[in-house]
Amino acid sequence: MQREPGTNEQKLAETANALVALDKGLLALDESNPTCNKRFARYGIPQTEEMRRNYRELIVTTEGLGEFIGGAILYDETIRQKKKDGTPLIKLIIDAGIIPGIKVDGGVKEMAGHPGEQICEGLDGLRARLAEYSQLGARFAKWRAVITIGNGIPSQACIEANAHTLARYAAFCQEAGMVPVVEPEVLMDGDHTLERCREVTEEVLHSVFDQLYRQRVTLEGMILKANMVLPGLSCPQQETTIEIAEATVKCLMRVVPAAVPGITFLSGGQSAELASERLNAMNMRFKARSPWALAFSFARAIQQPAWEIWQGKEANVVAAQQALLHRAKCNRDARRGEYQGD
Ligand code: G3H
Repeated sequence: MQREPGTNEQKLAETANALVALDKGLLALDESNPTCNKRFARYGIPQTEEMRRNYRELIVTTEGLGEFIGGAILYDETIRQKKKDGTPLIKLIIDAGIIPGIKVDGGVKEMAGHPGEQICEGLDGLRARLAEYSQLGARFAKWRAVITIGNGIPSQACIEANAHTLARYAAFCQEAGMVPVVEPEVLMDGDHTLERCREVTEEVLHSVFDQLYRQRVTLEGMILKANMVLPGLSCPQQETTIEIAEATVKCLMRVVPAAVPGITFLSGGQSAELASERLNAMNMRFKARSPWALAFSFARAIQQPAWEIWQGKEANVVAAQQALLHRAKCNRDARRGEYQGD
């Protein structure tokens, strides 16, 4: 289909391409309050709104972040927060040349009749919420669905329900002029093999793109946020970086249409170094022939060192910002296949 200049479709395509342009990626800064508090608790940081605000201010005032980060995904609390001097955090993000986005799923809930499986809530009222977020300055959104590998799961019903929900969310986003980041995450937890992860990831993505087609989502105006194809965390056989890079890209080649501008990987609990190393290997091998950008949308794999250093103390802010910037640069380098390790 021809994208006419000035149309909603063309603007969506421009935003989607801008998010992954210049070898940049996304910073997932969208931990819900309970998740953020859980991370703070690990480092003895008080779990208050004020501390969450201070932390987010630390991130968005990191000098030079826009050189490596094309978009930042915010949470409902963060998109409304202000710096101590009253400047809205979202303004600082825009001024840094970073496109602001927003997490809009309502979190994962147990799926009725399917023990051990989950479904995301949040479609009710989504149209109105997107309109408000768009007013606040968000230009893209994110919805995370979770697929667990285990004994007899995932079920077809769980895959289909999540794929359908992701596609309905994506259609709402595009109607609102916002680029949907579509995230069906196959979890790393478990002792399954890399081959099992590949099989499940392929089936899930096949179902997601089928539903996106049915819901008339414009592929040029979306981003896929995917898991890497990995052996389960407790699987005795852990493949090499090259094997993981090859399995991941080969799987994606089979099921992700070339019209999608970018695939931004989640880190999912990998260490910061491994996530960069694996992304680097994918780009070294496949960048020249991959139809989509192979990029990143990491939360833990960019922020972890900053949490460890900051510890909620003003005196550690500059060092934490340097660590954050370093990881952001590592991942930009990984997009170029130039990551040298730490
Ligand atoms: O939805 C998941 C997050 O945005 C990515 O987080 O990189 O820590 O897995 P992660």
